[in-house]
Amino acid sequence: MKAIQDLQNLGGKRVLLRLDLNVPLKNGIIKDDTRIKKILPIINFLLEKKARIIIISHVGRPNGKIHNELSMKPIRDNLETKINKKIKLLSEDIRKINDKDLFKNLNQNVLILENIRFYSEEEKNDLAFAKHLASFGDIYVNDAFSCSHRAHASVANITKYLPSYAGLQLNSEVNALEKITNDIKKPITCIIGGSKISTKIGIIENLIPKFDNIIFVGGMANNILNFKKFSIGKSIFEKNCDEMISKIFDKSKENSCSIIYPEDVVTGKKLDDKPNVKDLIDIKDDDMILDIGPKTIKKIDSLINSSKTILWNGPAGYFENPDFANGSYEIAKSIVKNFKSNLIYSVAGGGDTIAVINKINAINNFNFVSTAGGAFLEYLEGKILPGISALK
Ligand code: 3PG
Repeated sequence: MKAIQDLQNLGGKRVLLRLDLNVPLKNGIIKDDTRIKKILPIINFLLEKKARIIIISHVGRPNGKIHNELSMKPIRDNLETKINKKIKLLSEDIRKINDKDLFKNLNQNVLILENIRFYSEEEKNDLAFAKHLASFGDIYVNDAFSCSHRAHASVANITKYLPSYAGLQLNSEVNALEKITNDIKKPITCIIGGSKISTKIGIIENLIPKFDNIIFVGGMANNILNFKKFSIGKSIFEKNCDEMISKIFDKSKENSCSIIYPEDVVTGKKLDDKPNVKDLIDIKDDDMILDIGPKTIKKIDSLINSSKTILWNGPAGYFENPDFANGSYEIAKSIVKNFKSNLIYSVAGGGDTIAVINKINAINNFNFVSTAGGAFLEYLEGKILPGISALK
């Protein structure tokens, strides 16, 4: 990959900068801005070099339709404050504008496009759309490692039309993950949670040979519990995953990898309910599993204590409600305790996982924190990420 730092003479150049500003939003409020903080170096670098910047990002999964609650506006506002510069948000249909419509105001040198996933062409990796996007700039920079597992127009096909470079953050994430995969110390335990079930479950099968223990928590665990014929009530769950789960159990036996899933849970009838600790057999049809229970937390703590490497991706429950955040916090605290005693090498990844870690101010108590979730897992799996191969 060509690195942006190696490019001389960026002055006056229009840089199309793909970032991952997919931060957790609730009613237009940013719940965690780590991903915005992490991209400040590339913005400052480009501004120092007197480049003009067109930021492209998505937030959420609007599926090719305009959803006002997934506008980039709050993200633009947050970034404006951080860089102390006005940023114009381009809300008009970008398919109808051309390069001459940009930077009309000569004092303006940072623009941000509205959520790129409002356009269905983005996720289809549409060539014409990628070409049109490319026509806005002179060069393209991908500083969104966490989106690089997506073969989308602004990540993959756009590189066909412009000289393309790896950004600062992307380079440092790739270098760190490279080091981790080469220097891994066993026993190694992977904790997988969160709600993006179908995105991750297929990846697990390929990770089994690399791990000694895989612990399922959060939404991921609901699919396992359902497979094991426990009632999961109204909990989040994705259909058509049973075959994959069956393979996970078969492969784990062949590779002596233990699969661990919750023994007890915390439920509520709705997301803002009060927590109720339950054994699996007591889950009712109108219950939602919203966290892991105390027995499960204890078991996870002892597995972390006996591991040398921990990889954690995805919270253990609906941590947005503090009543259901205990499992996620306890996992974080157990990792931090072992990190402080120099007993483990710990890596965490993903936007929500970072949000949990930030809530207990522990971001500096991990060996490495990746902004990436799915991309992080796919990289560990050894897959070539479309966004990375496009840069190559
Ligand atoms: C992430 O949060 O992992 C990236 O922004 C990619 O989001 P996606 O899983 O919706 O593609």
